[in-house]
Formats: sequence, C-alpha cells, structure tokens
Amino acid sequence: MYAHPWDGSFNHAVLEETIKTLKQNGQEYTLIDLNKDGFNPVLTESELSVYGKSGYKDPLVDKYIKILKATDKIVFVFPIWWIGAPAILKGFFDKVFLKDKIISFENPSMTKVKKALLLTTSELTTDALVNEFTDPIRVLNYPIKSMGAKEILWHNFGNIILSEEPERVDYLNNVSGFVEELL
Ligand SMILES: Cc1cc2nc3c(=O)[nH]c(=O)nc-3n(C[C@H](O)[C@H](O)[C@H](O)COP(=O)(O)O)c2cc1C
Repeated sequence: MYAHPWDGSFNHAVLEETIKTLKQNGQEYTLIDLNKDGFNPVLTESELSVYGKSGYKDPLVDKYIKILKATDKIVFVFPIWWIGAPAILKGFFDKVFLKDKIISFENPSMTKVKKALLLTTSELTTDALVNEFTDPIRVLNYPIKSMGAKEILWHNFGNIILSEEPERVDYLNNVSGFVEELL
C-alpha cells in the first residue's frame, strides 16, 4: 500500500527497497499505488447512502477489497502529513474498510491479515511526533486492528528535512530488515 504522489520522493525509494526485499524473499505481492490508480478518497453523498449496508460505487473499492481479502500481511509506505496519513490513504480507510467485508466489530478476523508494517517519514523527529503531538500510528492502529491484524510494526524516518545523504542511505539499507521482520 503506497501513498505518495511523486516517484522522485524518498518514500518512493522506500517502496523500491520494500519490493526488492519481497522479491528476494520469494514473497508474492500486489502493489496498491493509490495515486497512480487515481483513487478518489472522498466518500460522496451517493456512496454514503449505501455505506450503512456496506455498499460501494467506486470500482476501485471492489478491486481493493479483493486484494485485501487475498493477503495475510500488509506493508504501508507513506509520509506523515499533518500528523497523520495523506488524505488519499485516509480515504482508503473511509471507502474500503466496510463492515462485514474488511472489518467487523463482532468477528475480529474478517480478513486473513495478521501482521502489518508501517514505513513512514516525517519532518518532525519520531519522538516529537509521538510525544508532542497525537501519535499518528496509534490512530491508524484502529482501522488496521479492525481488519484483524494482531501485530503492527512501525518504523519512521524522522527529521527527514535535516537528514544528510549517509543517514538516508543507512535508513534505506535497513528497510530490507524491517520487511523481513514482517515476513
Ligand atoms: C501536506 C504536508 C503536510 C505535512 N505535515 C507534516 C507533519 O504534520 N509532521 C511532519 O513531521 N512532517 C510533515 N510534513 C513533511 C513530510 O512528512 C515530509 O516532507 C516527508 O516525510 C518527506 O518524504 P518525501 O521526500 O518522500 O516526500 C508534511 C508535508 C506535506 C507536503
């Protein structure tokens, strides 16, 4: 699950490392690239009218439900924007995490997903993100746990604006280890 609009971004480099590691480990994967898909994160009036019955109108929602149902692990790669996920990823939860399709409050295992890995980047240090503001990952734990995930791993490359090239290279070298933790 990738939520960044620009292929020249650091997040894109993290995505590439993630995919390389999955391939090296013989792990089959399906990439959801929300921006490349042109996903519209806005839940419209007509979509909300069928939301209560877990209906949807966007064909991408159908595609994403099938992908989520077929996997037991998910990697999320995204930057922290306003102490949270970019709007396109927030909208993914709004539109795709439908009751009795992806989430259930009675049956905590609507999907086979048991583990999730979140790889994020931020301008703030990780410590400031967690301790001075609302920890964005705690907030995201809610939808991810609602789909049945028992374990959520998180690695953030904080202070990214002030980071120097060697630190960035170092982090990218560590990504394969983070992904292997999930496998
Ligand atoms: C719209 C927007 C909102 C942002 N909000 C935050 C924020 O709340 N906290 C933070 O630490 N960084 C914030 N940033 C900085 C990004 O996290 C940072 O630019 C990104 O992680 C860098 O990775 P990239 O080169 O892959 O884009 C924001 C950036 C943008 C564009």
